This record gives sequence, structure tokens and C-alpha cells, in this order.
Amino acid sequence: MRLVIVSNRVTIPERHEKAAAGGLAVALREALEQHGGLWFGWSGGVSEASAPPSVVQRGRVSYAVTDLTEAERQSYYLGFSNRALWPLMHYRLGLTEFSRADYAGYLAVNRRFAKALMAMLQPDDVIWIHDYHLIPLAAELRRRGVTNRIGYFHHIPWPPAEVFGALPFAATLASTIAAYDLVGMQTSIDVNNLIGGLVSMCGARSDGRRVRVGRRETVVQAFPIGIDVDAFRKLAAASVRSATTPLKTTRQSLGERKLVIGVDRLDYSKGIVQRLEAFGQFLRSHPDQRGRVGMLQIAPPSRSDVPEYAELDRQSDEVAGRLNAALGEFDWTPIRVVKKAYSRNARAGFYRRAQVGLVTPMRDGMNLVAKEYVAAQDPADPGVLVLSRFAGAAQQMGEALIVNPFDTHEVAEAIRTALA
Ligand code: F6P
Repeated sequence: MRLVIVSNRVTIPERHEKAAAGGLAVALREALEQHGGLWFGWSGGVSEASAPPSVVQRGRVSYAVTDLTEAERQSYYLGFSNRALWPLMHYRLGLTEFSRADYAGYLAVNRRFAKALMAMLQPDDVIWIHDYHLIPLAAELRRRGVTNRIGYFHHIPWPPAEVFGALPFAATLASTIAAYDLVGMQTSIDVNNLIGGLVSMCGARSDGRRVRVGRRETVVQAFPIGIDVDAFRKLAAASVRSATTPLKTTRQSLGERKLVIGVDRLDYSKGIVQRLEAFGQFLRSHPDQRGRVGMLQIAPPSRSDVPEYAELDRQSDEVAGRLNAALGEFDWTPIRVVKKAYSRNARAGFYRRAQVGLVTPMRDGMNLVAKEYVAAQDPADPGVLVLSRFAGAAQQMGEALIVNPFDTHEVAEAIRTALA
């Protein structure tokens, strides 16, 4: 049996590279390296005309990647995936921008991917497709006669039918889910929302996790994504000992001050602006804490061609600047926002140094930062995780300080409690 993974974005590792940046990439790569197999998807690049995928071999894994044309990037990736599906799946109807042209582009790229993948498939391949960019891919493969087992994992939330149903063609798109043999979601909430939507919008019948849509039957189940805890714990312990440059500098610049940390892609679903406001509120409510604690928000920019992301970029600078000006001192800057990505190594060290991990998304599929933060702690003197009840991780990590990220005062008080 060969494992064939398909995801929107594929990063081909450098030769001998050990750890990739994101949770999805790390988890999938480890699975593939164990089994051997094929990983197919977008190279992240753009070229003028669509060409057959180019294949690169790394150990037991073949990476087959294709560029998008600029029109495909606009309609499939920036448009339908990230201006319609992303906000919708995160319960943000007000930000959802639907265009028929983008939807047509999304379906066309899924058709093109299906055609390209067909040419590489072997009869006993097990195909595992990832995330919202590729929901109709299995239906396209089935239309072309593929009978292999096909699974899907949805990394982000799935909203209730009342929200999802606002998307034009919602029922058509949702019903393509039935082309999969197994559908994995992050939490039981997402499972129930998806099954509820299939029943109410597509006339599906369900018997527990088994769902029948027309003539196809699929199983929808929660498989919460995790991290390699031991590996991350070791990384954190080692990175503190070896004192990598960013950590050493943090030590110098923070001194004995306590550290509150947030690490997220710069995305409105992560609640970064609301979190900065909550930290400001904490300092206003507890003036004795001023000068004794600092917040570090690491926020690598993401999808900056989407207007809502560009606006968040501006807004986060504005809020951090305003709070620093109002609350800072000549020798103390309360908030540092750093808009760049750090290696896993450096992140692990930052987490271990931080007394509080602030993971307060407005809505999130799982959130692996929550898991990484806990894994990175020194068991002899651990920090405290403040976690949004709207992160999938809250379903598993009830020992954290669970907060409602829409309530600035509640988050501010949780920071106080965590520090104490
Ligand atoms: O899990 C959500 C997700 O869209 C992943 O599919 C992706 O790897 C990650 O976020 C980063 O998004 P993007 O590829 O749009 O930068």
C-alpha cells in the first residue's frame, strides 16, 4: 500500500532537513516518511501556463508539485478558499465574500488537480486529501473512475448549517464530501455540524457517524490533531540550554520580567488585536504589574494579498503602538509585536521562557500552539496556558484557564490569575 497525500501547499524539504515549520507539514511528513509515498499539491509558485507536475524525490517520498496560474491563484486560493470558505468556516459571515467567478476557479483547479493526480495513481494507493481548498477533489476523482480508498481531513472548524448554508451552492459543495470513504474533523462539534448540514441541506441519512448521501456512504469522525510531545519537550529543554540568539537577547532585554507570549499566523481568526487589547486592559486594571511583565506576540504575515489580512496588519500595528504609547515607560515597552516566523527551535525556547501562553483565537480548528506551549514547559516551574473556549484544543485541554476571547475583561483577569 502506498500513501498519497494531497494538500493545497507542498513544501519540498531541503536535503537532510529535519523539521519543517508548520504542524500540518511536520505531522504529514513524518507519516509519509514512515510509509513511503507521494505528496501532491501546489508548489506555492505562479507561472503563466499550467504545466504537468514536476517530481522531486527525497528519501522514500516523491513530491509532485504544480504551479498555479495567476488567475488560478486569485480565484481558487485567494478568492474562494480564503475570502469565502475561510471566514465562513470560522463563523465570520460578515467577512465572507462570495463570487461566482472565484467558485468556478476553485472547481476548475480541483478538476485540474484530479486529472494530474490520476496520471500518477496506482491501484492500491490510499489517498489522503487535506483541508478546505480541496473539498470536491474526491468527487472529481470518482467522476473519472477512481475506486481507491480516499480520506479527507478538515483542519479548520466546520460551522453549523445555519452559517454554512449562507454560502451559495452550499448543498452542492457539502454533498461532494460523500465521495470520501472517511472524513476526519478536529472535534465532535465539527462532526455534528457537518453531519447536521448534510442531513438538513443535502437530504442525507445518518446513523451515528455513518452518513448516506444519495448512493454513497461515508464515515465522519473526530481525530484531533496532536504534536510529538516528547520531541517538542526535548527541543524546548535543549533550546534553553543552548541559548539560541533570539532567546539570549530576550533574556538580556527582559531581565527578571515575566513574559506573556502569543504565536500565530497574522490572521483575524486568531484574535490577535483582541488579545493585545486584553493585555492593555490587564495593565490598566493592575497598575502594580506595569514594568514587571511584557508581552511578546510573534505573528508571521500570511495571505497579505487578501484585503482583510492587510487591514489586520495595519490594525495590529496601530493597537500595539497606541497601547505602548499610553502604558509604556522610557525603560519598558509593554508589547512587542514581531511580524516574522521563527524556527521550531526558537519557538520552543520562547514558550519555555514565558510564564503565560496566550492562545485566544476567536475560532480555531485545533491550535497546536496550545499543545506546543504546554509541552515546552519546565515541569519544575511550569507556565500557565490561557486558552480560548473556541479553539478545538479547549475540548481536550480543560486544565488550562479557559476564556471567552470576546470578553476583554475576562481575558485580562485570566492573565492576572496565570501570572499569580
Ligand atoms: O490549517 C489551515 C491552513 O490553511 C493550512 O491548510 C495551511 O497549511 C495553513 O493554514 C497556512 O495557510 P496558507 O497556506 O494559506 O499560508
